[in-house]
Amino acid sequence: MSEPRARSGIELVLLAAVADNGVIGRGGTLPWRLKSDMRHFRAITWGKPVVVGRATFLSFTIKPLPGRTNIVLSRNHSFGAAGAVMAPSLEAALQAARGDALRRAAGAIMVVGGADVYAQTIAIADRLLITRVHLQPQGDAKFPAIDSDIWRESERSEHRPGPDDEASFTTLVYERRTGSIVSAPGSH
Ligand SMILES: NC(=O)c1ccc[n+]([C@@H]2O[C@H](COP(=O)([O-])OP(=O)(O)OC[C@H]3O[C@@H](n4cnc5c(N)ncnc54)[C@H](OP(=O)(O)O)[C@@H]3O)[C@@H](O)[C@H]2O)c1
Repeated sequence: MSEPRARSGIELVLLAAVADNGVIGRGGTLPWRLKSDMRHFRAITWGKPVVVGRATFLSFTIKPLPGRTNIVLSRNHSFGAAGAVMAPSLEAALQAARGDALRRAAGAIMVVGGADVYAQTIAIADRLLITRVHLQPQGDAKFPAIDSDIWRESERSEHRPGPDDEASFTTLVYERRTGSIVSAPGSH
């Protein structure tokens, strides 16, 4: 899957909420309360396969996300979760996700974290959907740097905090620049 879009017509999309200092998580959970972004996440991922690391999956409210095939990465063969598809490698996860996307006629595979999984997939992604959260929290999980030589910002929308939001935020779309190299999974 070195060129996901060109080969299958299915985009590989990373979806993340990232603080101004790059932090995405603390102690296995999100370091902010941002209800608007939870709604955004649900709307964008609904009906699509989601690829998620075991740690992030366990941070969901026990059950898999409804309305989406949850493909959970874990090297631990004894870990399993009812209603989720387990994948022992990134290649296996992407293969399962591509099959699911084709069955559902979904145009995208959504990679929803966490830090470990984003770090392994940014090099092969077609698009990044980033909610930039205007906070500087302490944290132990970060999103990888978004290199402007590789990623072109194509959309930007500013949002004031809603009643259940801790901060203002900016939603951003980044497209891979034409001609930038797409690495094979496992090559980094
Ligand atoms: N702000 C956001 O948008 C956002 C989104 C998602 C997550 N987060 C945050 O990110 C943090 C979690 O990130 P994390 O980096 O600690 O964990 P993670 O990426 O969610 O999960 C890591 C685990 O996934 C499995 N894994 C990863 N790559 C694999 C591969 N190639 N093959 C097989 N299994 C693989 C391994 O599980 P095993 O150990 O079982 O082998 C690994 O320990 C949390 O704080 C969470 O709240 C934030």
